[in-house]
Amino acid sequence: MLFNVSITRLTHIAFMTLCAIGINISVTHAEEDVTDIAAAQINPKYTQYKENFSVKRLFASRCSWCHQGYGLKEADGPRLSGTDKSKEYIIEQIAYGKSPMPGFRKQLKPWQIEALADYIKALPDVEL
Ligand code: HEC
Repeated sequence: MLFNVSITRLTHIAFMTLCAIGINISVTHAEEDVTDIAAAQINPKYTQYKENFSVKRLFASRCSWCHQGYGLKEADGPRLSGTDKSKEYIIEQIAYGKSPMPGFRKQLKPWQIEALADYIKALPDVEL
């Protein structure tokens, strides 16, 4: 009887663990997809300036060290997904910065800054 109970318990624990791992994996994938979906909406608008433009690549090279998970995860800078700020505000913030965030108006072209703002606004309110 005791033996039976502990086997049932173990099975239960193993099942719950597998479920937790399963949920974790699917959530992680969903969140990666979310940034791809947002980028796929934004990229075509800017390929007129640069063929094969990738807003995620631009974000990764300039923003990721403070805004991680392509904007879904808080790090030195806040999470950007789900921001209540307007596109105009975001463009200003990227161009002029706000200590400790540097301004990017001297390094990025206006259309690149706008692409980043469009991308941030396209991100759904998802947190990594
Ligand atoms: C050195 C770290 C750092 C880098 C690099 C950086 N940021 Fe930031 N960012 C911050 C910090 C810190 C804040 C919060 C500033 C505040 O409001 O006090 C912030 C705030 C923001 C906000 C405002 C969010 C809101 O809801 O108020 C946006 C938008 C933003 N960053 C976009 C970007 C983009 C796009 C890039 C890349 C071009 C970038 N940041 C690069 C640190 C950084």
